[in-house]
Amino acid sequence: MALILFHMAGAEKKSGRKGGRTSERESGRSERGYAIVALDGPTDPINVGHTLRAAMCFDTRLVVLANPDPAIKLRRLSTDPGRTWRHTPVMSVENVFESLPYNCTPVAIELTDDAEDLVDFQHPERACYIFGPENGSLSEEALKRCDHVLKIPVSLPLNLAATVNVVLYDRMLKMRRPELRPGGNNPRTTR
Ligand SMILES: C[S@@+](CC[C@H](N)C(=O)[O-])C[C@H]1O[C@@H](n2cnc3c(N)ncnc32)[C@H](O)[C@@H]1O
Repeated sequence: MALILFHMAGAEKKSGRKGGRTSERESGRSERGYAIVALDGPTDPINVGHTLRAAMCFDTRLVVLANPDPAIKLRRLSTDPGRTWRHTPVMSVENVFESLPYNCTPVAIELTDDAEDLVDFQHPERACYIFGPENGSLSEEALKRCDHVLKIPVSLPLNLAATVNVVLYDRMLKMRRPELRPGGNNPRTTR
């Protein structure tokens, strides 16, 4: 018992807080928080493969496929040679919002007139980016359930997988370059 009390006192002293639950150790993680990519109703295996590849390259923590076309076979995606599912969890669900973890912000990615501009967007620490199907758009209901609707400011819709790459790159850039973030607060250092 004496030994345990000694350790607890040491922890309090180090963290400056009662209970000693905050570590002073520098995190080895490349960013605070995480990104999830969710495709709502994807139909094209080529796009799904490119999306999985992007997810692995950008260290996305989870990929969600909501109601994917049954022809999409994860083991046979020519555009995902690294077989992302072996390294990054990939889930199939019926409703994209089923997969939303605790305190994660749903962000719809859609080219609508009143969407926020990605260029000026400050990414949430924990974000689930939800993309629409190749042959349509996210439903009004899905857009309403999201905390943000974001567009890449171009005049015509981009290819789905290209959109995924642009959004993940924008997140990575703003995480690494705090001066590019509106408000300038870097989630790596802001507690
Ligand atoms: C190829 S688009 C769908 C086609 C589009 N609805 C149309 O009118 O032709 C597939 C998905 O990519 C995303 N997307 C494509 N271009 C976008 C842009 N400029 N800004 C935001 N999302 C975009 C959206 O999630 C969209 O639902």
